[in-house]
Amino acid sequence: MQTVRKPLVAGNWKLNGDLTLVNQMRETLSSADVSFVDVLVCPPLTLLHGFESNELRLGGQNLSEFDSGAHTGEIAGKMLIEAGCSHVIVGHSERRADNYESNIIVASKVEAALRNGLTPVLCVGEPEEIREKNEFLPYIAEQLDAVVDKIGVQAFSDLVLAYEPVWAIGTGKTASPAQAQEVHKFIRAHLAKSAQDVAEKILILYGGSVKPGNAAELFSQPDVDGGLIGGASLSPQDFLSICQAAKQ
Ligand code: PGA
Repeated sequence: MQTVRKPLVAGNWKLNGDLTLVNQMRETLSSADVSFVDVLVCPPLTLLHGFESNELRLGGQNLSEFDSGAHTGEIAGKMLIEAGCSHVIVGHSERRADNYESNIIVASKVEAALRNGLTPVLCVGEPEEIREKNEFLPYIAEQLDAVVDKIGVQAFSDLVLAYEPVWAIGTGKTASPAQAQEVHKFIRAHLAKSAQDVAEKILILYGGSVKPGNAAELFSQPDVDGGLIGGASLSPQDFLSICQAAKQ
């Protein structure tokens, strides 16, 4: 982590949580000084109201590429804004896999988020077989380039990126700090080829089995600017410890 970039720790609750957890999380996080890190919570949509007048940043876990219309079950960017969100996760590997979100759809969703004033947290990352074949860097470049082609590289100044190797999500198999740093450095260098200023400023989070015990070492890598936390974000104490690990 470099001091020029303020770290961000984001909790992705996925399809978990209830109002009791909302209250516990608020209480735990407000009991400690976490002013050195931006803290983002992405609960299920129905729990957003529980964070009303909150001290945290809120995010959606997905949005529609459309702003309105006959799209049953979808949520639009401006609706997330009205619900108090500043961010939205886009292209999480679970949505790419379970909801068949292609690179093209993900790029449209990033564009929709920006159009509505949300900061997209764009997730990229390779499945295990791609890692085993040592093809992960070109795979990640392709995921990024689909979005660059749609919105242009300068628009990445309004994005947060998250590197989440699919084989590390929810598996307890964290990427080593060196493995994370290799990819984060690659992503920054890839963007720097066309926009050095954007590449220097953009936050690149690591996600995949981040826990209180491994967060500090991951976050100490020069190109790791915080984390996107799944399972451990459901424990207020663990999530707080991970936020505290972002202190430089
Ligand atoms: P995990 O999930 O921390 O449970 O591995 C991370 C994520 O999916 O964002």
